Amino acid sequence: MQIDVFTLVPHAFAWLTEQRPVATVLGTELDLRLFGYRDTTPLANGQVDDAPYGGGAGMVLRVDVAAAALDAVYGGAPDHRVIALTPQGRQLDQSVVAELAGEERVTLLSARFEGFDERVVTHLCSDAISVGPYVLSGGELPAMVVIDAIARLLPGALAEGSAERETFSPELEGGFEYPQYTRPSEFRGWGVPDVLLSGDHGRIENWRREQSRARSVASVGSTELDRSGGAGLAGAGAEA
Ligand SMILES: C[S@@+](CC[C@H](N)C(=O)[O-])C[C@H]1O[C@@H](n2cnc3c(N)ncnc32)[C@H](O)[C@@H]1O
Repeated sequence: MQIDVFTLVPHAFAWLTEQRPVATVLGTELDLRLFGYRDTTPLANGQVDDAPYGGGAGMVLRVDVAAAALDAVYGGAPDHRVIALTPQGRQLDQSVVAELAGEERVTLLSARFEGFDERVVTHLCSDAISVGPYVLSGGELPAMVVIDAIARLLPGALAEGSAERETFSPELEGGFEYPQYTRPSEFRGWGVPDVLLSGDHGRIENWRREQSRARSVASVGSTELDRSGGAGLAGAGAEA
């Protein structure tokens, strides 16, 4: 898969490219290309934005600058999806990520300051995506969120089986993953559910499925952290 990102801050992506799973699939399953608007701007002195018509605070990314950047790379309108990253877009969730991961090529356009001249979104993009109902200072973090989430779904990105039973996976009916524990089995009086130490794989499997379902139901509309050590558990050391 090829992901092209247009940004004012290409160097911001250095960290992402060094981290797994992106680093694992880069050069094989994933071709990530970064393009700076300033490198192709038709304006003098690297100008890319301008004051909004009608007045108001901030600067707006110009449509001629975005068009020049796309023309320089694709020689016209590309025949794949060109996605504006904006808080006003369709909200990203795991099904949108899976949809994007199924594409051969995707282009992400990010802005900063006041955002895009609206004509960038309406004339140069096929769709618009938001990473959540809040406003960030630029599209670089949203682009990295999209890239990382896609990379996890590409072949070879993760250890065998680790994505199959993750939160939102079909294997868990789109719900949350069950609680996970590791050594030590006792820490500051905080235990681990006995069933996980039982060695009984059938019971462990049943417990995990119950926990996943209970957590998913309990989480609907809730922003509170479940500190019980697992939904439906009286305490972390409780037997299922
Ligand atoms: C400060 S924001 C602009 C917000 C815009 N003035 C508005 O009120 O909708 C600057 C840029 O950051 C990116 N951005 C900010 N929040 C985002 C979000 N939740 N999802 C996707 N991109 C976002 C977009 O590229 C946006 O154009």
